[in-house]
Amino acid sequence: MIAKIKGTVDILPKEAARWQALEDLTRRVSKIFDFKEIRTPIFEATELFHRGVGDGTDIVKKETYDFMDRGERSVTLRPEGTASVVRSVIENKLYTEASLPLKYYYIGPMFRYERPQKGRQRQFHQYGAEALGSYSPSVDAEVISLAVTYLKALRIDNVKVKLNSLGDKESKASYRQVLLDYLAPKKEHLCGDCQNRYQDNPLRVLDCKVDHDNPVLLEAPKPLDHLNASSKEHFEAVRKYLDGMQIQYEIDKNLVRGLDYYTHTVFELIADHPNLGANTTLGGGGRYNDLFKSLDGPEFPAVGFAFGLERLILTMEDDQEEEEGLHCFALAIGEEARVHAAKIVRTLRHGGLIADYDLLDRPLKGQFKQAERQKAMFLLFLGDDEIKQGVVGLKNARTGEQLNVPLKTLYPTLVEKIRAEAHACSGNCEDGCDGSCGHDHE
Ligand code: HAM
Repeated sequence: MIAKIKGTVDILPKEAARWQALEDLTRRVSKIFDFKEIRTPIFEATELFHRGVGDGTDIVKKETYDFMDRGERSVTLRPEGTASVVRSVIENKLYTEASLPLKYYYIGPMFRYERPQKGRQRQFHQYGAEALGSYSPSVDAEVISLAVTYLKALRIDNVKVKLNSLGDKESKASYRQVLLDYLAPKKEHLCGDCQNRYQDNPLRVLDCKVDHDNPVLLEAPKPLDHLNASSKEHFEAVRKYLDGMQIQYEIDKNLVRGLDYYTHTVFELIADHPNLGANTTLGGGGRYNDLFKSLDGPEFPAVGFAFGLERLILTMEDDQEEEEGLHCFALAIGEEARVHAAKIVRTLRHGGLIADYDLLDRPLKGQFKQAERQKAMFLLFLGDDEIKQGVVGLKNARTGEQLNVPLKTLYPTLVEKIRAEAHACSGNCEDGCDGSCGHDHE
């Protein structure tokens, strides 16, 4: 047997319904905020991520899937979506559009060679949103608002928004030097990984998972305390918008994020949920005003975020989602009736009904069982008599009510009955029912 690659999963039909529900909701919430979908390739030139995400990041150093294609070009399976969106905006000159900011979102697979665990895979899925073309702090708040609304729509409680600012390019560079000077004499007190990060990516030392209680880090200078005047002003304005929208957040002075392109605002959304295990960060993002320039584009500011969909699915696992059944299942007695059933089902499907029939040449009893397994709302009976009379036996699977319907009026009759059935109440319907259900309400 050939097994799947480590760190990948099959989303089986049973789970696919939940994924579809998540994706539908993702699109709906994006639409409410007027974000439009963008779809970029899942592999790109390796250089895009080296320059975009950053040579010194863990993602580029240890986690990308790189390979030479048959034309000897180095290509990489995308580890994230932001660099691709920026590449696409530059390549398609979307930055010249009159309506700014551009507001784009994407849903799709990403690839990182990480140690697999609950909520962490090598092929995983992200929902990302990017607002491009505005320096205004209102946009930082707007994308955070979208992120918070999204989790609310998913009914995920106990969400914490962590917020920080790294400042503009100038603030970041001067802070980097302050941090290097501070850490230089204390390097040997850092964990092995952080000793390496000191060289390549010193800011990452701040949010080390191993060293978080290390006094060297607790006492380290923080980016937020080294912002220049305009960066401070930007951050204060972002906070003002968030406060105005009554979005709660916590300042986390150690939050730096794992990608190099951030300037100014960075944020993460954390949830406290028993299904999440160690990976409680649902999503994160920030502003990246210099990424366009470093990818040979024009000066074009932007801010965005991404969520890991596997982690969101984990929080939805307790939801009891009723699997959708069939509108009708056709049961046939006899060879001729089977062909007749196939033809009728085909016509009903053309009319948009979810219809099926036996494909295993089962006896009638087996066909009944199959209709039940597929949760058919109505059963259609076809035998020699029905064919002769030009009728179909129609039975409501819930109430047992049964009648013969002329073949000619089968479709409109079914449509009407399906509509009535969808509104029929279960008997516990005080809230939703208009009283037309026929049940006795107290
Ligand atoms: P990120 O923090 O690297 O940011 O990833 C965003 C989210 O993707 C994480 O919070 C996590 O939920 C999910 N994720 C990351 N790696 C894995 C994995 N191996 N398995 C499962 N889920 C994972 C970015 O990717 C940025 N592009 C976000 C952004 C957009 N910043 C600005 N715009």
